[in-house]
Amino acid sequence: MLFSQQQWLRQRFFVLGSLVLGSLFFLVVREGTLDRLPLICPIKDRLRPADVSGQIPLHTLQHKQALGLKLHRRNSTKEQLRTLRLIKQLPRAIIIGVRKGGTRALLEMLSLHPAVVKASQEVHFFDNDKNYACGVDWYLKKMPFSFPHQISIEKSPAYFITEEVPERIFKMNPSIKLLLIVREPTTRTVSDYTQVLEGKEHKNKTYNKFEELVIDNNTCEVNTKYKAVRTSIYTKYLEHWLKFFPTEQFHIVDGDRLITDPLPELKLVEQFLNLPSRISQYNLYFNATRGFFCLRFNFMFSKCLAGSKGRIHPDVNPSIKEKLQRFFHPFNQKFYQITGRTFNWP
Ligand code: A3P
Repeated sequence: MLFSQQQWLRQRFFVLGSLVLGSLFFLVVREGTLDRLPLICPIKDRLRPADVSGQIPLHTLQHKQALGLKLHRRNSTKEQLRTLRLIKQLPRAIIIGVRKGGTRALLEMLSLHPAVVKASQEVHFFDNDKNYACGVDWYLKKMPFSFPHQISIEKSPAYFITEEVPERIFKMNPSIKLLLIVREPTTRTVSDYTQVLEGKEHKNKTYNKFEELVIDNNTCEVNTKYKAVRTSIYTKYLEHWLKFFPTEQFHIVDGDRLITDPLPELKLVEQFLNLPSRISQYNLYFNATRGFFCLRFNFMFSKCLAGSKGRIHPDVNPSIKEKLQRFFHPFNQKFYQITGRTFNWP
């Protein structure tokens, strides 16, 4: 009896020990692989040649990136920043919208790439007259610290629908790359409504039902005066942008696919930005509790988006939903035509 108990304990110990050793072996091998990945190369034709930081292994770069952020927060001296070769750079790509399209998820997921550094907050430089009046130096100050071979990216979803923005961005950099993430327009409209509704609820205010806002009471047609509806007419805004930038400078991201299967969408963005492919399935894992993909930066650090992303939408009357879908249909067709990207929207 005692013998069999000892044998059982020995077996448990052996199994546990193997598991621990196996995990350690996996981590060591994986870290080694990361270090051996090809060095991050500068973005073709667009970036200055990489300096010595290009020879720093990936994990060191990520560490330095975090260090740069810390230094930034602590108002470090110019000397310290110069030693680390950290600088501020104007963005080479901007996520211009669309609101509730998945702009935060896209920005966060792109920042998994070691050559991408994100401005954490929405900057609202081009859509806010007061900020814009502060000049491009103000904008530059809002950018994160980065190494010369890295690119800074910011997202401000209001850019897409604000009339003055395309011209202002063009004046700053006519060859900038523009990322537009879109979702099926009716879903986006509901998401937009849900966000405002939540804001009202937090302030203990009442708000109209979705159906009351999207349908014009007098005509019984879709209410195009309601901003959430107008924002979902993507083609209307895109046509204005195309007066300033050629289609090649835009990349359309499928926001619905970014939710269900983000990696292929991110690979397309990497290509568009001329970045070497570095974001892998390892960096993205599905979190069943959240119901969304979350981000894994390394074996120590992973995160999901905040709870304000991925809200539960209210139920919408099916006939109103259908009416909206019929309303958006012709605009969607035009959007496919212009962008050359077709979606399975109704
Ligand atoms: P919902 O809250 O309607 O679900 P934005 O960042 O532009 O405001 O977009 C918010 C939307 O991003 C969310 O809309 C959510 O569906 C979507 N999203 C995409 N990927 C996500 C992710 N990994 N985690 C959470 N939300 C994500």
